[in-house]
Amino acid sequence: MDKDLERIVLSEEQIARKVKDAAAWLDGRFKGATAPPLAISVLKGSVFFFCDVVRAMRTNVQIDFMTVSSYGNASETSGVPKIVMDLAASVYDRDVILIEDIVDSGHTLARMRDLILGRGAKSFTVVTLFDKPARRKVDICADYSCFEIGDEFIVGYGLDYAQQYRTLPYVGILKREIYEK
Ligand code: PRP
Repeated sequence: MDKDLERIVLSEEQIARKVKDAAAWLDGRFKGATAPPLAISVLKGSVFFFCDVVRAMRTNVQIDFMTVSSYGNASETSGVPKIVMDLAASVYDRDVILIEDIVDSGHTLARMRDLILGRGAKSFTVVTLFDKPARRKVDICADYSCFEIGDEFIVGYGLDYAQQYRTLPYVGILKREIYEK
């Protein structure tokens, strides 16, 4: 375990199981779809979870990426997520699957929902690895959430603190002394 972590909350094995379950849930939801859904990764945090889920799915999906940023280096959201890089594909009349690493305040998800439905998507389905309902500021939730977590600072498997720890293959709670320095 990384020395800056207090404890691990999701090991590599646990992540693999969550990925399989999320992919199976999505396969069930899109069984018989007449056109391939567009799966979108909200970068950067969801990158590893996204890649694992879409590869575990049996449904034929297309993929696209969007970079959205809300935090900077702080642990508090500004409430105004910025679109740093937009999608390449059109979502008009498509079934859209949004894959997130975490729903925290809900600002990012609400922004994405409004944007994607505003562009004429046929449907909008959200899968998140983590849900932090205690921190919610906007009344919104994912359609499928793998793991509910309290108000703890988690990093790894895409999740960062000041752009660090993203590449850890597991998820752990960051020691308070790291972010309270
Ligand atoms: C994180 C995370 C979600 C969002 C959730 O992204 O990946 O997209 O915050 O927080 P919210 O529910 O309070 O909006 P961040 O903006 O930190 O960018 P990152 O994905 O590059 O880490």
